[in-house]
Amino acid sequence: MAVDSGPVTPGQVSFFLGIIPVIVAWIYSEWLEYKKTSSPSKVHSDNNLVELENETIKEDDRAVLLEGGLTKSASIKLPSPSIKTNLIRFLTMEDSFLLENRQLLRAMAEFGGILFYFYLCDRTDFFADSTKSYNRDLFIFLYILLIIASAMTSLKKHNDKSAFSGKSILYLNRHQTEEWKGWMQVLFLLYHYFAATEIYNAIRIFIAAYVWMTGFGNFSYYYIRKDFSVARFAQMMWRLNFFVAFCCIVLNNDYMLYYICPMHTLFTLMVYGALGIGHNYNEIKSVMALKIFLCFIVVILVWEIPGVFELLWSPLTFLLGYSDPAKPDLPRLHEWHFRSGLDRYIWIIGMIYAYFHPNVEKLMEKLEESETKRRRIIKTFVLGVTLTVGYFWYECIYKLDKVSYNKLHPYTSWIPITVYISLRNVSQELRNFSLTLFAWLGKVTLETYISQFHIWLRTNVPNGQPKWLLSFIPDYPLLNFMLTTAIYVLISYRLFELTNTLKSAFVPTRDNQKLFHNFVAGAIISVCLYFTAYILLLISH
Ligand SMILES: *[C@@H]1O[C@H](CO)[C@@H](O)[C@H](O)[C@H]1NC(C)=O
Ligand SMILES: *[C@@H]1O[C@H](CO)[C@@H](O)[C@H](O)[C@H]1NC(C)=O
Repeated sequence: MAVDSGPVTPGQVSFFLGIIPVIVAWIYSEWLEYKKTSSPSKVHSDNNLVELENETIKEDDRAVLLEGGLTKSASIKLPSPSIKTNLIRFLTMEDSFLLENRQLLRAMAEFGGILFYFYLCDRTDFFADSTKSYNRDLFIFLYILLIIASAMTSLKKHNDKSAFSGKSILYLNRHQTEEWKGWMQVLFLLYHYFAATEIYNAIRIFIAAYVWMTGFGNFSYYYIRKDFSVARFAQMMWRLNFFVAFCCIVLNNDYMLYYICPMHTLFTLMVYGALGIGHNYNEIKSVMALKIFLCFIVVILVWEIPGVFELLWSPLTFLLGYSDPAKPDLPRLHEWHFRSGLDRYIWIIGMIYAYFHPNVEKLMEKLEESETKRRRIIKTFVLGVTLTVGYFWYECIYKLDKVSYNKLHPYTSWIPITVYISLRNVSQELRNFSLTLFAWLGKVTLETYISQFHIWLRTNVPNGQPKWLLSFIPDYPLLNFMLTTAIYVLISYRLFELTNTLKSAFVPTRDNQKLFHNFVAGAIISVCLYFTAYILLLISH
C-alpha cells in the first residue's frame, strides 16, 4: 500500500515550531544540570530537583503555563511570577528558569518525540507494512495464554472495606472495573490486529460496557463527592482529549477517527449536566427520578426522531465530521451518528445502576450473612436466571448478522453487561480476587486505543482506517507481532504517565484564576504559532 502523508498542514508546522524550542531548552537545561552537579561546590542541590520531580507528579496545583512550554517554579513561598515573566524567562533561556523546569521540559520533549515516532511509523516509508490475517486458533491461543500468564503471576486478593458498613465491598469495586476494562481491551485490540470480524458483535458489547462504566463511574463520583468544580472538570477533559488532540494535529486526522474519545466526552458531559443542573436537589428521590426520565427523553428526541440529530449537530460538523477516504460518499456526520447512536442509552443504565448501588450492596451483605442453606438457594436461583437470560440473548440476538444486530444493540446491550456483573459477583471468593495484569492494562485503555492506529497497526493516509500492520521484521509475522506489541504497550504506558504529569503542571486543582490564565495563554500561543505556520506555508508555495 502506497503511503500518502498528504500535504503539510499549518497544524503540523505549528507543532514543529512549538516543539523545537522546547527540545532545545530541555537539552540545554540537562547540560546546565550536568555542569552544576559536576562542580563540587553545589553537590547538594540535586535534592531539590528530586523533590521538584516528585512535586511535579504529586502536587496538582503547581503554577504553570501554556502548552508551548513555559512554567514557573513550584516554590510555594515565592509569589508566582506572571505568565508573561515566565515567557520572557523561557525565550531568553534564563538558566535558573530552565533548571527549575527541567523535568517538565523533559516530559514535553518526550511527548514530542513520541509523536514524531507516530508520524515516522504511520506516514513514511521508513518502516514496512504488512497485511492482516486471521486464524481463530492463534487468536484464542494468544488470549488464553495471556490469561494463564496473568493468573499465575498476578492473581491478587483484595480486602477493601465498604465505605458504608466497613465490610468487604461487593459491588463494582475499582479493581474489578479496571480488570474488566483489561479483559475487553485485550480482545478489542487483538480484534483489530487480526481483523477478527467474526467477533464484531462482541466488540460492540465491549464498547457499550465502557460507556456503561462512564455513566456508572461519573454518576457515583458526582453524586457522592458533589464536586462540580471547573478545575476537576478541566482535568477530566484533559485526560480524555489531550493526547488525541495532538494526534489529530500531527497526523492531520479528524477527531472522529478516534471515535471513542468524542463519545466518552459527550456522555461524560451528559452525566455532568444531568447531575450538575440543580445539584442541590440530588438527594431528593423524585428529583433524581425526574432527571433520569429527562435523560431518556433527550436521547429519544435526538436519536429516535429522524432529522433532529443532523439539525442539532450540523453546526459542529467541523469538529465531529469524518470522511473515510475508502468511503468518500457518506455524509460527514454519518460516523458520529452511527457511533453515538449505538450506545445512546447505556450511559443512563450505568447511572441507574450507580444510583441503586448502595441498596444492592446492602442486600448482598445481608445475603452473605444469612444461613448457608438459604444463601445457597438464593444464589443458585440468581445464577440460574442469569444463565438462562444470557443463553437466550446469545441465541436470539448475539448470533444475528452485523447489520440486524446493530439495529437491536442500543436496546439490548444492557443484558450481557448485567449478566457479566451478576456472574462476576456471584460468590464472595470471585468478588475478592482480581487479575492485576488485566487491571494494569485496563488503566491505559485510552492510550492503547489511540496508539494502536499508528504504531501497531498503520493507517498510511490521513483519516484512513488502520487496515495494515506495522512491520519491523518482514516475513516473520509472529516475531514482528511480539516486537511491535512490546514497544507499543510501553509507549502507551509512557503516554499515560506523561498525560498525567503535564496535567498536573498545566491544570491546577485549586486555583481557578490560574487555570483561566493558563487557558488564555495556551490559546494565544497556539493562535500565534498557527498564524506563523500559515504565513510560512503561504510563502513557501
Ligand atoms: C459484579 O461484577 C462487576 C464487574 O467486575 C464487579 O465490579 C461488581 O463488584 C459486581 N457487582 C455485584 C452486584 O456484585
Ligand atoms: C468519567 O468518565 C470518563 C470517560 O470514561 C472517565 O475518563 C472519567 O475518569 C470518569 N470520571 C470519574 C470520576 O469516574
